Amino acid sequence: MLSKRLEGIGEYYFSTKLREIDDMNKAGKNVINLGIGSPDLPPHPDVIKTLQEESAKPNTHAYQSYKGSPVLRQAIADWYKTWYNVELNADSEILPLIGSKEGIMHICMTYLNEGDKVLLPNPGYPTYCSAVKLAGGTCMDYELTAENNWFPDFTAIDTRGVKLMFVNYPQMPTGQLPSINLFEQLIAFAKQHSILIIHDNPYSFILNDEPMSLLSIAGAKDVVIELNSLSKSQNMAGWRVGMMIANKQRIDEVLRFKSNMDSGMFLPVQLAAAKALALGRDWYDSINAVYAQRRLKVFQLLDLLNCSYSKNQVGMFVWAKAPASPTPPKEGQKATGYELSDAVLYGSNVFITPGGIFGNAGDGYVRVSLCCKEEKIEESIERINAFLNPSTGGA
Ligand SMILES: Cc1ncc(COP(=O)(O)O)c(C=O)c1O
Repeated sequence: MLSKRLEGIGEYYFSTKLREIDDMNKAGKNVINLGIGSPDLPPHPDVIKTLQEESAKPNTHAYQSYKGSPVLRQAIADWYKTWYNVELNADSEILPLIGSKEGIMHICMTYLNEGDKVLLPNPGYPTYCSAVKLAGGTCMDYELTAENNWFPDFTAIDTRGVKLMFVNYPQMPTGQLPSINLFEQLIAFAKQHSILIIHDNPYSFILNDEPMSLLSIAGAKDVVIELNSLSKSQNMAGWRVGMMIANKQRIDEVLRFKSNMDSGMFLPVQLAAAKALALGRDWYDSINAVYAQRRLKVFQLLDLLNCSYSKNQVGMFVWAKAPASPTPPKEGQKATGYELSDAVLYGSNVFITPGGIFGNAGDGYVRVSLCCKEEKIEESIERINAFLNPSTGGA
């Protein structure tokens, strides 16, 4: 029955793992989930108030424009100007999305023909490859390594037949920040090889004071589509609000596909999103203060597991190298992130994500989410300690 295009598209790792965790919880294990990056903090109260007030009005319930409300598009343009110093035409260079994830699919469906090659970061967000495959394209990994600061090695990339390249800085899962030099190299590379770059930018405000857009580089609008999101920076993951930023031609091309898939978002959601984008530095400082505290605890947890990590990473995760032997060590066994993740899950009922699900370049790593209350991270530390040091009662 299944279509051919679904062949090779597995169920998303987290949906399978969450089922297992669910079963463990039903068996009374009370697993602490430090896996998923879904903000547990609420949006700003004014954002919720706007949604409530607007949805109580009788005239806000109709179908909306495919291009989104002009109020939201203007708010996005102002946000880009204020924080990224990028000038955008609110009428023609912005397309609101129902979360940036759908944009990844729309872009692939808009540009890929059967067999077109797409460069993808390894490790990177698994959705890129699924979307490329669903659209009939071919995934070509470019490997990121700690030695190269998790930046692409442009000299090692085979560009033959490549149409698109996905990049994502601050990078998920490694937490690596971009540099201006990297961004300039990307634009030059795209122009030299006629590649359209898709820059996925949902993490630029998390634990980072200087958000950067690839579109701030001169000439970027010729070769870049940027995706951005309110999921992380405004704590609105469940609201599904994202955006695509590009030159008019690209926006029109993607809209040609998207307008056949869905209609504009519920107007009160768009107006509340506009409110969220107008929040000042206080807002970002307030959420980052919480994440910074949690991150200190996560560092402690990782120290306990003998993991090594960079303290300069940003975003809502900590990416860490698993120790050379499993925890607790077993003879002749190599510790990969998967083994460490399973050992911690089954030994202490705490879930941390194995880095290998982001590509085999992440095999030796784990990723710990900061979307969990500090007390829960503390409890995780206690549980792991008790698991590692049973004879001392965890001391
Ligand atoms: C790198 C990356 N891109 C995109 C997304 C999707 O974000 P959105 O909620 O805007 O669809 C995520 C969510 O986890 C992500 O980690």
